[in-house]
Amino acid sequence: MTTHDYLASLFSLEGRTAVVTGGSSGIGRAIAEALALAGARTVLLARGADRLDGVATGLRERGCTVETVVADLSTRPGIRAAADAVAEVGEPDVIVNSAGINLRPHLGQVDQETWEVTMTVNLEAPFQLGQRFAPGMAARGFGRLIHISSQQAHRSFVDSGVYGVSKGALESLARSQSEAWSARGVTANTLVPGFVLTPLNQHLQDDAEKVTALAARTTVGRNGVPEDFAGAAVFLASAASGYVTGHSLFVDGGFSVH
Ligand SMILES: NC(=O)c1ccc[n+]([C@@H]2O[C@H](COP(=O)([O-])OP(=O)(O)OC[C@H]3O[C@@H](n4cnc5c(N)ncnc54)[C@H](OP(=O)(O)O)[C@@H]3O)[C@@H](O)[C@H]2O)c1
Repeated sequence: MTTHDYLASLFSLEGRTAVVTGGSSGIGRAIAEALALAGARTVLLARGADRLDGVATGLRERGCTVETVVADLSTRPGIRAAADAVAEVGEPDVIVNSAGINLRPHLGQVDQETWEVTMTVNLEAPFQLGQRFAPGMAARGFGRLIHISSQQAHRSFVDSGVYGVSKGALESLARSQSEAWSARGVTANTLVPGFVLTPLNQHLQDDAEKVTALAARTTVGRNGVPEDFAGAAVFLASAASGYVTGHSLFVDGGFSVH
């Protein structure tokens, strides 16, 4: 066996269909690129058609098979419509839930609307997509559910508020999904970023002192970039991680151990 064939037997995603919510930006975009370049037919899902098309076009130019789904995960009907659109493109073998919002009001100022939209995008959409597609994955004997959580699932800072609650529950969701389906080949895991330079936290990046202070909280000595998630995502999506489930994998440059 050649080195190439051996690595492909562990990590190739050829023949798989992967859906990446939030695949048009930041961490989701980098993960979608990694899965597509590893061979998966990759479906990018988000609200903004232009950004989706831009990412898809770039990947097609690199020889990847990419589809896009325009959908809004901030309401229950929106989630149902998103799942229907994904099903039309094809049953997924891998779902990466990267679409997320962080509205950051102080907990004392959280209104009902902030609670509901945060919980719907960050938690309910991953739950409902799992409910819809994990049974099919289990019937086929292979599936990968991958969620993107946050340090704020584990520690509170910079107004974790409702966001931290949603991310804590998301890691519990992975454990519940693991219990439900891993005996039939469907793993459920979470990637836990540190502070990653993406549009999500642009307003924090405008404060150079804060950015430097956050980098100093890591042991690697820098803040994250979306590409830091490529290898971990391919691993969790691949055959290689079949005995890894219900796990929270910190991709945070040591933020959580410092
Ligand atoms: N950046 C960090 O430091 C950091 C740290 C910890 C955790 N995370 C988590 O990592 C994930 C990705 O964050 P990011 O930093 O990559 O953010 P980002 O660059 O802002 O990307 C967010 C993505 O989600 C999509 N999205 C947002 N609301 C949506 C909705 N209602 N329906 C469908 N798609 C929606 C966005 O596209 P549209 O706006 O076009 O819909 C975009 O593709 C999130 O779950 C976030 O909580 C990030």
